[in-house]
Amino acid sequence: MAERIPLALVDDGLPRDRRGRPLRDLRISVVDRCNFRCPYCMPEERYPRDDGVPDAAGRLSPAQIEVLAQAFVALGVDKLRLTGGEPLLRRDLPEIVARLARIAGVRDLALTTNGSLLAARAADLRDAGLRRLTVSLDALDPALFARMSGGRDAVADVLAGIAAAEAAGFRSIKINAVIQRGVNDDQVEPLVARFRGSGHVLRFIEYMDVGTCNRWDAAAVVPSAELVARIGARWPIRALDRAYRGEVAERWAFADGAGEIGFVSSVSAPFCGDCHRARLSSDGRLYTCLFAAHGTDLRPALAAGDAALREAIGAVWQARADRYSELRAGLAAEPAPARVEMFRIGG
Ligand code: GTP
Ligand code: 5AD
Ligand code: SF4
Ligand code: SF4
Repeated sequence: MAERIPLALVDDGLPRDRRGRPLRDLRISVVDRCNFRCPYCMPEERYPRDDGVPDAAGRLSPAQIEVLAQAFVALGVDKLRLTGGEPLLRRDLPEIVARLARIAGVRDLALTTNGSLLAARAADLRDAGLRRLTVSLDALDPALFARMSGGRDAVADVLAGIAAAEAAGFRSIKINAVIQRGVNDDQVEPLVARFRGSGHVLRFIEYMDVGTCNRWDAAAVVPSAELVARIGARWPIRALDRAYRGEVAERWAFADGAGEIGFVSSVSAPFCGDCHRARLSSDGRLYTCLFAAHGTDLRPALAAGDAALREAIGAVWQARADRYSELRAGLAAEPAPARVEMFRIGG
C-alpha cells in the first residue's frame, strides 16, 4: 500500500514528489497486448499467445481513461502520450484520442506505436485530433527487422505506416530506434541516411534494463556519446538546446540543414532529477517510475468520484522518491528485483 499522506499543497496548489518534482507528463497504456514479440520486451518463448496476457483487472473504457486524464490534468499534467503494448490493437483508439484531445489544459497529445498497423489507421487518428506521432523502428534491414520484431512483421509495413501518416498530415514524426551492440548497431547509419532530410526526427535510445525479460547486459548498451561521434564523423552535427525542461532526448541538428536527430541517454546520463512522468497501465494502475515493481490501482478511487481520484493520485505522487536510473550503477551487483514489464506501461 502506498503510504497515505495528506495532500499538502505547494505554492501553485499542485503536488510535488519527495524530490520536489511536479507531475507534468502522463503516459497512458491503452492495451497490454502487442502484435510484435521484440525479444527485449515480450519474447515469444515467454508470451507465445496473442491473447496470453489479458489486461490484469479488465481494460479501462475510453470514458474511464478520459476521467482519469482529467484528474491528472487537474494536478498539473499538460502532456499526454498514448502507448501500449501496441495501442493500434484497440479498435476504439480514435474515440480515446478524441476524448483526450478535447480536455482543456492538454497542451500536447502524442501516440507511440510500432507502426505495423498504421497505414490503415493514420487518417482516422488524425481526424480524431491526434497531432503527434512516434514510431518505433530498430532496423531497416528486412531480415534483421523480422528477427527483432519476433518474426511478426515486415519492415515494409512500418515504412508504409509512416508514409500513410505523412499523407494524413502528420509532420515531424519521431522515429525511435533502440540500439543494441552486436544486434542492430550496424543499422545506425542506414537509419540516419533514410530519415535525415525527411522532416522527421530520428532518435536513438540507449538499451535499458526494463522489465524482467531482456537479460540486459551493460555491454550491449551503445552510449549516446559513441553514436554522436560515429554519426558526426559522417554527417557533421551540432548540439541544440533542450526544447523544454525535463525533455528526455538530447537534440542535435545536421550542420547542412537536413533536420534534427535525438539521443535518449537514460543509461549513460540519467535524467531522473527532472522526471515529471507518471505512467498508467491499461487496467488502471499508476506507476511512478519505468522501473517500478508495483503500481497503485486507481479503480477504487475512480469509482469513488473526482475528488477521491485526485486525492489518490496526489497522495501517490507525494510519496514518490524514484530515481532508478541514477541508482542503477550502484545496484548492478544485486539480483534484478521484480519490475513491471515494458509492454504494460509503454516505455
Ligand atoms: P517527446 O514528447 O516527443 O519529447 O517524447 P518523449 O521522448 O518524452 O517520449 P518517447 O516515448 O519517445 O521516449 C523515448 C524513450 O525514452 C521511451 O520509449 C523510453 O524508452 C525512454 N524514456 C522515456 N521516458 C523515460 C523515463 O522517464 N525514464 C527512462 N529511464 N526512460 C524513459
Ligand atoms: N530499452 C530501451 N527502450 C526500449 N523499448 C522497449 N524496450 C526497451 C529497452 N529495453 C522502447 C521500444 C519503443 C518504446 C516504447 O520503448 O523500442 O520504442
Ligand atoms: Fe516490441 Fe513495443 Fe510490442 Fe514491446 S510493446 S513487443 S517493444 S512493439
Ligand atoms: Fe523517471 Fe524512473 Fe526514468 Fe528516473 S528511471 S527518469 S525516475 S521513470
